[in-house]
Amino acid sequence: MPPRELWERFFDPDGVLEALGCGALPGDVVELGCGYGTFTTAAARRVSGTVYASDIDPMMVRATIDRATQSGLQNVVVEARDFVSEGCGRPDGSVGFVMLFNILHIEDPISLLREAHRVLHSRGVVGVIHWRRDIETPRGPPLELRPDPGQCRSWAEKAGLRWLSSPALAGSAWHWGMTLGRTTRAQRP
Ligand SMILES: C[S@@+](CC[C@H](N)C(=O)[O-])C[C@H]1O[C@@H](n2cnc3c(N)ncnc32)[C@H](O)[C@@H]1O
Repeated sequence: MPPRELWERFFDPDGVLEALGCGALPGDVVELGCGYGTFTTAAARRVSGTVYASDIDPMMVRATIDRATQSGLQNVVVEARDFVSEGCGRPDGSVGFVMLFNILHIEDPISLLREAHRVLHSRGVVGVIHWRRDIETPRGPPLELRPDPGQCRSWAEKAGLRWLSSPALAGSAWHWGMTLGRTTRAQRP
């Protein structure tokens, strides 16, 4: 990750969350790989439920905890977790919004989407953003690792999710966004 000040020039967290509908539904939020908490605290201000954020990197966990504390937010829980081996730790069907932001270039994106599907309640939404690969961007993973929206949608469908929308992301020109919802049955791995 680049330094926080640089990273946060690339997004408008409120514009992203508004476009993806975070806060439109009641319930808790899960964020997998929260980084500096760029979106964690913005989400926590928008929802009445709790934002459960996690990251494998203890420095990112500390940064996000400090940020939530300094912002006076009472509805943020941050944990050090490896989502590959431990998932997000929330019960099945318990969450209204899952954030998968700048994370789906990992080795096994379908398993992460399955974890999002597992915790989502029936009307819940998964919000995805990632770096565009069709234009030059100032940062982001190597082009060959970046999923485009079509790739993401195909992975999501394998994980039992269905495409809902691909909204424009106000103030975040280097990213694309997508929302996904639950289907009645997940496909088997
Ligand atoms: C590119 S950053 C994105 C951070 C944040 N989602 C954002 O968009 O600002 C990816 C984050 O995912 C975390 N991460 C990577 N692999 C992980 C894993 N297996 N379990 C938990 N966190 C992970 C990294 O430590 C890093 O903070």
